[in-house]
Amino acid sequence: MQLRVLVTGARGLLGAEVIARLQSLNHSVVGVVSSGTAISRNDGTSIAADRYQCGYPRPGHVCTVFGDITKERLGFTNQLYDELATSTDLIVHCAAITKFGQAAEHYEAVNLHGTRRVIEFAATGTPSPTALVHVSTAYVCGAHVGPFGEADLDLGQRFGNLYEQSKYHGEACVRDAMLLGVPATVLRPSIVVGDSKTGVIRRFDTLYTIVRLTSAGTVRMLPADYGATLDIVPVDWVADCVAQTIENLEAARGMTLHLTSGEPVSLRDITEVCAEFPSLRVPRCVPRHLFETVEMNPIEKRHYRKVISLYESYLTRHVRFTKNSTRQILQRDPSVRGKRLLRRIFRYAIQTGYFIASPARNGRRS
Ligand SMILES: NC(=O)c1ccc[n+]([C@@H]2O[C@H](COP(=O)([O-])OP(=O)(O)OC[C@H]3O[C@@H](n4cnc5c(N)ncnc54)[C@H](OP(=O)(O)O)[C@@H]3O)[C@@H](O)[C@H]2O)c1
Repeated sequence: MQLRVLVTGARGLLGAEVIARLQSLNHSVVGVVSSGTAISRNDGTSIAADRYQCGYPRPGHVCTVFGDITKERLGFTNQLYDELATSTDLIVHCAAITKFGQAAEHYEAVNLHGTRRVIEFAATGTPSPTALVHVSTAYVCGAHVGPFGEADLDLGQRFGNLYEQSKYHGEACVRDAMLLGVPATVLRPSIVVGDSKTGVIRRFDTLYTIVRLTSAGTVRMLPADYGATLDIVPVDWVADCVAQTIENLEAARGMTLHLTSGEPVSLRDITEVCAEFPSLRVPRCVPRHLFETVEMNPIEKRHYRKVISLYESYLTRHVRFTKNSTRQILQRDPSVRGKRLLRRIFRYAIQTGYFIASPARNGRRS
């Protein structure tokens, strides 16, 4: 069935990849943009999109509207809001503040209140509420230890950062809206990394940021457990899963799906894969309770405070994402995952010069 789909966060990493898939499935797409109009895919290719005039574009086409989800009526004029509320079949909500280290108000405004406004928009759909696919994160689990299921949300967990906390609250609002009749599906990707075939990623963050500093020897030690795990998934697979969910919307209604790898990587895996690349230095993982006492030089200290501390909580997590309901809708795990995926994405980060070769690379490693 051809759908008229409104995508928030259309210019974002996932939004653009989702739009490309919706387009090839012949759906008609309106992408909400909040800064600039160009939509680029992860590999840098552009998606042709006209400005919204009146009504959805033809099937297989894309147009853009300016919007701000933190504003009343998503920042649309009353006429545009009403027009879109009555003509949209599905909303895919990808817009969010994803960068770490931002002010609490910023996360709250976009990830919580912005999500509320998107829900409001879905609820005003006529004749009945519009279907909503909400892109959350698997890390709403916070610092929870052990299995974390699709139905789980509040397990009394602490959060590693304000981003996770705001995504948790945003997801809670979507769950409340489901109870009030909004036909929603929650998707929880874990940490999105480069393409499964090429390793290409248009934005380096999280794991990449940490390895950039350790591989150059700028930071030699991490407050981390070798046994802790990170769940990483390739961007193309995540976007494929969003598209597949849309193709199975009826079955996925009311469900929460884990877009997680099924084979997380441990800190030991990460250090082992670093060791396979002669240009990368291998960091030493020091248990958190001993870390305060390790000797850091002033440059290391600065990088630790400014950068590593933002991501530090991911280095000691022991969570396992279960995928029982997810497997009913999405049958396959990523074909490239675990250490294979790490090698592919590290190779790309080296090729692009993002991972900087350590100056002392003659076989010596710290
Ligand atoms: N990337 C990951 O590793 C990852 C992992 C798990 C879950 N997720 C979730 O997946 C979703 C997409 O992530 P992403 O990586 O694609 O994010 P992204 O690249 O940072 O893009 C987010 C988009 O949100 C839009 N946005 C921000 N504030 C807005 C506002 N006030 N009004 C309207 N739009 C606004 C921005 O639009 P403009 O560019 O037009 O300003 C931006 O393009 C998010 O919900 C994120 O939490 C991401």
